[in-house]
Amino acid sequence: MSEKAELKIDGKIIELPVITGSENEKAIDISALRASSGYITLDPGFKNTGSTSSGITFLDGEKGILRYRGYSIEELAEKATFLEVSYLLIYGELPNKATLESYRKEITHHTLIHEDIKNILEGFPSNSHPMGVLSSLVSSLTAFYPESLDPNRSAAEVDLSIKRLIAKMPTMAAWAYKNEIGHPANYPDNKLDYCSNFLKMMFAVPSEEYEVDPVIANALDKLLILHADHEQNCSTATVRVVGSSHASLYASIAAGISALWGPLHGGANQAVIEMLEAIKADGGDVNKYMAKAKDKNDPFRLMGFGHRVYKNFDPRAKIIKKAADDVLEKLGINDPVLEIAKGLEEVALKDPYFVERKLYPNVDFYSGIIYRAIGIPTSMFTVMFALGRLPGWIAQWKEMRENKEPIGRPRQVYTGNNHRPFQEVDNR
Ligand code: SDX
Repeated sequence: MSEKAELKIDGKIIELPVITGSENEKAIDISALRASSGYITLDPGFKNTGSTSSGITFLDGEKGILRYRGYSIEELAEKATFLEVSYLLIYGELPNKATLESYRKEITHHTLIHEDIKNILEGFPSNSHPMGVLSSLVSSLTAFYPESLDPNRSAAEVDLSIKRLIAKMPTMAAWAYKNEIGHPANYPDNKLDYCSNFLKMMFAVPSEEYEVDPVIANALDKLLILHADHEQNCSTATVRVVGSSHASLYASIAAGISALWGPLHGGANQAVIEMLEAIKADGGDVNKYMAKAKDKNDPFRLMGFGHRVYKNFDPRAKIIKKAADDVLEKLGINDPVLEIAKGLEEVALKDPYFVERKLYPNVDFYSGIIYRAIGIPTSMFTVMFALGRLPGWIAQWKEMRENKEPIGRPRQVYTGNNHRPFQEVDNR
């Protein structure tokens, strides 16, 4: 017999179905609430509200667990490649050798972007933030591939749009960077793997040989895996809501990029490094900044700390912290900002304010230190997050479409003026 919840309201007992997920998470299905009671629920920021059922990513914020399609983030980060993980997220299973090779070839085949995108880039001032450029370039794909506009076309055409986007995102990201620094764009080198190709497009300059450092390529591949999906976070929820109106994949992902840009979300990795640099410039006094973070009258927040779901360590932060040590050691880099980050973490983890609120380092706290070590400029940090999150956004958009979910349209509680007659301007 299926579980029920009872709601006693206005002298009536309303029975509501209880949903149990595959990891025994419980939810009260309120889809019939308004029809049976006239009431809606209210939950600003959706802290207690599930928007969907999904089989893609499971996370347990209390235990610090993160799994993609049942595989632990720790195993995937250590044993898989980003391209394998992108296939797993989008199609539901890890590919066998033949499927992976065929997928790799398809992605490689689509890495080039239309030459006219250079004209779009030239329209942006050189100091344009790469996230705004990237969102625009992804949206511009609707112009170069008009058949992508209708997501209700054949599954094969939707799949082609998916593979084009996975393939072209690194090229568009690298071209956005080259545009920002006024360098000529590099074309994809299809002899290289996904991350090596991106690094070469980012850093190769005319008349100089560019050799990809495997330490850097491997570190980048691991970082992209760690960012690949994270269930119904702000930007993924945005992709799903935009896609629920039957807007195209490219329009939905362009919206997700914009949502990720915010400093409370994906923009935090850039904000963390800017914060650490400011602390360093101010003498490196972590206690001073801890006090600011706890002061309600001070707008300063300890960026890279806290999380809506994780009330334990973000498992990704643990992996990235270790990777930061490894990469900096292998590259022979001593970054004083890493020591400041570790100092902040040590103080915060003992401080009652942070302990009571269960504020731990999140995925953004250490990632910027690795990006910096491998030569990625701060302005591109959130673009790197978008590059990693792309297969997750696509997988979630695809699941929402395949489940034929209704258009996302929340209700509200109105608190404005009651009805009043119009006053002519002379009588106001
Ligand atoms: C990502 O959702 C995802 O999955 C996101 C993400 C993903 O992979 O997609 O994991 C990626 O976005 C990670 C988060 C990156 N953002 C930051 O690092 C920015 C700093 N963190 C915060 O702004 C905050 O912790 C959020 C936005 C991440 C979460 O905010 P919530 O859940 O709305 O919590 P809240 O703002 O209500 O904070 C609860 C309490 C408050 O204190 P009180 O009012 O109860 O006294 O904790 C305090 C907050 O003031 N607090 C902080 C803090 N974060 C929360 N105080 C100081 N520094 C902080 N960083």
